[in-house]
Amino acid sequence: MPTTTGMKGGGYYDANSKEQRSASDAFLPWLEEAIAALPEPASHQQSWNFLDIGSSEGANAIYTMNRLVEIVRRQSDLPVWALFDDLPTNDFNQMFLNLFPASTPALSATDVYTAAIGGSAFGRLVPPQSLHLATTFNAIGFYETRPAARLPHFILAMHPNPGAPREGVEVSTSELIPFQKQAHQDLCHFYAARAAELVPGGKLLVQVFGRNETQSTGHGLMDVLNDALLDFVEADMLPRSFYEAFVFPAYYRNIDELMAPIREEPELAAAYRIEHAESRDVPVPFNTAFASTGDRETWSHSYISFLRAFSEPVLTAALPQDLPQENTIEKIYQRMERLLIDHPERYEFHFISIAALLTRL
Ligand SMILES: C[S@@+](CC[C@H](N)C(=O)[O-])C[C@H]1O[C@@H](n2cnc3c(N)ncnc32)[C@H](O)[C@@H]1O
Repeated sequence: MPTTTGMKGGGYYDANSKEQRSASDAFLPWLEEAIAALPEPASHQQSWNFLDIGSSEGANAIYTMNRLVEIVRRQSDLPVWALFDDLPTNDFNQMFLNLFPASTPALSATDVYTAAIGGSAFGRLVPPQSLHLATTFNAIGFYETRPAARLPHFILAMHPNPGAPREGVEVSTSELIPFQKQAHQDLCHFYAARAAELVPGGKLLVQVFGRNETQSTGHGLMDVLNDALLDFVEADMLPRSFYEAFVFPAYYRNIDELMAPIREEPELAAAYRIEHAESRDVPVPFNTAFASTGDRETWSHSYISFLRAFSEPVLTAALPQDLPQENTIEKIYQRMERLLIDHPERYEFHFISIAALLTRL
């Protein structure tokens, strides 16, 4: 069972994911360089085959794919397959609407063909040696399967943020080990699947939310979610047993963890050359707006909408059915928004975008 059913659909993710676009845009120059260095498709292929993995409803993925097609068109007129993958439960209807707004193709260059694929990033998605370029943005931080290990005193596999302390909230180093191992295994599966699918010389751009020495993309976001859930437990609006069993199914890696499978696993080391690997603290549109306006309400609302777009499906699936109050989910997000308005400094948010560009050997 995957760990999420996808993002909040019906256009909500598209409308509340400028932050993810900023995190992937930071690495577009690498893709420009990668496309210029791609080997010509073999004569039996007759097309460029590009795949984006974890595309959600598609607004960000289609925007990036358009850029990639523009770049490849500078060097070649060959047809392009633009493929978009996500979990089968994703809102693919919205993706197709985005691909053909007003019945005209969003990927407007000539000879571009689109298709969507339902399947997990951690398994095989296309036939062997068929892809020239694979990309993934803000997706592979979700575990392949729900972690079995528990964290009774926090909701994320990470040491709690020292900037947002709360009594009783703690995670020990040994509690983190099963999560770190699972995240490593997931990445091994991801890289192995792409190694099978890429042609020799093909490129893989892998980008995801992560952490650096001082900041984690989980800081702020997961603190406000954790605080709201604990407030509800303390007010008897949620059972403590729910809180103790709930782990948000994402892992915020650092750049060494992103590269570890390629450096440590002989089969993967033989499959790839690392061209670039970097983490960046990227601009966050709602923080930039807050810095210029000082408008806390707008900042809090945008922050919560961004958080809600990827956390609500996870939370909805995890909440017990028979809660004492109706509409608990709505109230949890209202509580989070209140917390942000009252304590913006406690929930400061940085987007640490980590990425690598690899060449299939
Ligand atoms: C935060 S969204 C990112 C969407 C888009 N790539 C972007 O950067 O805006 C994460 C996406 O990853 C998808 N996802 C999560 N686990 C996945 C898996 N195992 N295989 C494929 N997609 C997955 C989710 O369904 C969701 O659509």
